[in-house]
Amino acid sequence: MPHRPYVIDEMISAKSIAARVEALAKEITASYRGTNKLVVVGLLRGSFVFIADLVRAMNLALEVDFMAVSSYGDRPSSSGVVRILKDLNSSIAGRHVIVVEDIVDTGLTLDYLVENLQTRHPASLKVCALLDKREARKREVAVEYIGFHCPNEFVVGYGLDYCGRYRNLPAIGVLKPEVYRKAE
Ligand code: PRP
Repeated sequence: MPHRPYVIDEMISAKSIAARVEALAKEITASYRGTNKLVVVGLLRGSFVFIADLVRAMNLALEVDFMAVSSYGDRPSSSGVVRILKDLNSSIAGRHVIVVEDIVDTGLTLDYLVENLQTRHPASLKVCALLDKREARKREVAVEYIGFHCPNEFVVGYGLDYCGRYRNLPAIGVLKPEVYRKAE
């Protein structure tokens, strides 16, 4: 698989991501061993690559479900107004839930989502995010499992996009300026 080094200044290699995802999955597996009724909820679209790798490395009985929300606008200027585009297929009442995010930026999406999911009375609710962009936070949200701390840069790859593209890059990095310029 080509790493397309001409597109991004690589920040986290595919190899580092794989090692970290494996470690996170082990930690989660240890915490949830013996738990039945576990549901892993991926937030579309950004989390699709991460959740696929994460659940395959989790040695647990679990179900996978997805939600899609729209925050009306671009990520850098997230308004905090969240609309559910696709809801969960199944009830989470009495279930142990892990919400999987690719990135926590302002925290507005998760803040809304956690509050919304709590009203459905899960047995427990935790969040796992691959990237934590702490500096951009506007709303405090508890993230129990964090893959990497991320600088306040616009990053793409491994599920994260720029104008819908680059989600399929195997590594994570900052788009090179010439790529922005070409897109304009
Ligand atoms: C991204 C990301 C998170 C959210 C984080 O989604 O996947 O869901 O933004 O931002 P916040 O912490 O500032 O709320 P995006 O809206 O880009 O949609 P996508 O998942 O389809 O890429």
